[in-house]
Amino acid sequence: MNAPNVDAAELAKFSELAHRWWDPESEFRPLHEINPLRLAWIDGLAPLAGRRVLDVGCGFGGSLEALDRRHHELRCLGLNLDGEQLRVAATLRPGPDNLIQWIRGDAVHLPLADGSIDRILCLEAMPHFADRGAFLRECARVLRPGGRLAVGDLLVLPDAPAVLDRRSDDVAAVLDTWLGPWPAPFCSPELLVELAAAAGLARREVRDATAATLMPALVAIIQAEAPQVSLRVVPLTTRDPRRLLEDAQADLAVGYFPALLADLAVREQGGEAVSFEHRRLYVGEYVCVMRRDHPLASGPLTLSRYCAARHLLVSFSGRPWGFVDEALAAVGRKRRIVLTVNQFFTAGRVVASSDLVTVLPRHFLRETGMREALVTRPLPFEVPPVHVEALWLRSRGGDAAHAWLREALLRASAKAFEAS
Ligand SMILES: C[S@@+](CC[C@H](N)C(=O)[O-])C[C@H]1O[C@@H](n2cnc3c(N)ncnc32)[C@H](O)[C@@H]1O
Repeated sequence: MNAPNVDAAELAKFSELAHRWWDPESEFRPLHEINPLRLAWIDGLAPLAGRRVLDVGCGFGGSLEALDRRHHELRCLGLNLDGEQLRVAATLRPGPDNLIQWIRGDAVHLPLADGSIDRILCLEAMPHFADRGAFLRECARVLRPGGRLAVGDLLVLPDAPAVLDRRSDDVAAVLDTWLGPWPAPFCSPELLVELAAAAGLARREVRDATAATLMPALVAIIQAEAPQVSLRVVPLTTRDPRRLLEDAQADLAVGYFPALLADLAVREQGGEAVSFEHRRLYVGEYVCVMRRDHPLASGPLTLSRYCAARHLLVSFSGRPWGFVDEALAAVGRKRRIVLTVNQFFTAGRVVASSDLVTVLPRHFLRETGMREALVTRPLPFEVPPVHVEALWLRSRGGDAAHAWLREALLRASAKAFEAS
């Protein structure tokens, strides 16, 4: 255990309160009250049954207790720095087919093997850790590839008006007295995302170009034909969503899946029974986008001029390279990426008011609402066309509601392109 991260005063404060935790009218009432809300959110993120779940800074075990009541076949570990709280947590009797173990340990030095955990929860505990970045790096280490981290953080924004009114040292002191000691009270959502990306954790994000292109027309179809239907568009940051579909986390996946489709084709040719079907929705054409009076907007956009520019990359997974960089590498060139964002909308806004250039799907420009401020140029190198496909489990084929949704998506896609 790392001594500087252990704060004796903080632990003593929690230990003192231990016996009151299970009383819903005690000072822990807010945590009891927000539990259903945050657990519903966690349930919607990824399945938990049969997975190894770790709750870091588990306190008195309130979150795992609630999960225990909602789920079967849980394999949970509750980790906390304070043994007194863990003693209270250990009085919990989990359901007959659930297993919950409690371990004493430090969030920034997790006593767990690399890749040994499927899901990590960390709820309202991060401000208590000495270093959010160190904790997120530990999460990246112990999560198996494809594992998930769900964090609920209390973010005290350094530029919030309430903080600016008074010197931030005073505010930090007040927070320490009421809730702390907090080694790192101030954090913003942007900083949290940055720290997570630096730790190698990818953020799940909606592919805004695809959703923005298809959803307006799809919603019109739903309104006219099936007003009782509700749709949920969830983030997709993988090019292989087979697991998502098999785990019933999604009914359909929409995106660009070149390697996956090649793999399915090889399997099919080899006589294997393939359990997925797909259908092309549209073909995206990518163009170079810049502000209207950008120096590159006049004269031909040569490969050398393109490579000498300063670039903005749209990357949904947070990876610092994309298909453009792969295409440039194939011709022995590279470009300088100054900024990576994960939304096409953000990309449009940034290039409209800067010297950066980016690459966007041509049809998406209309959706940015910034067409007037931007100009497009053909890319001065070959990039493969981006085929946007709908993918689903073959076993859903005979399901009438599913068939309607697939067909409605195709119509929505046709409508979106007819309008552009
Ligand atoms: C506000 S409580 C949140 C408890 C629980 N997650 C919940 O929401 O009910 C913060 C918890 O973090 C624990 N904690 C503080 N520093 C820690 C560290 N470095 N490693 C593990 N747990 C820590 C505290 O003992 C306390 O139980």
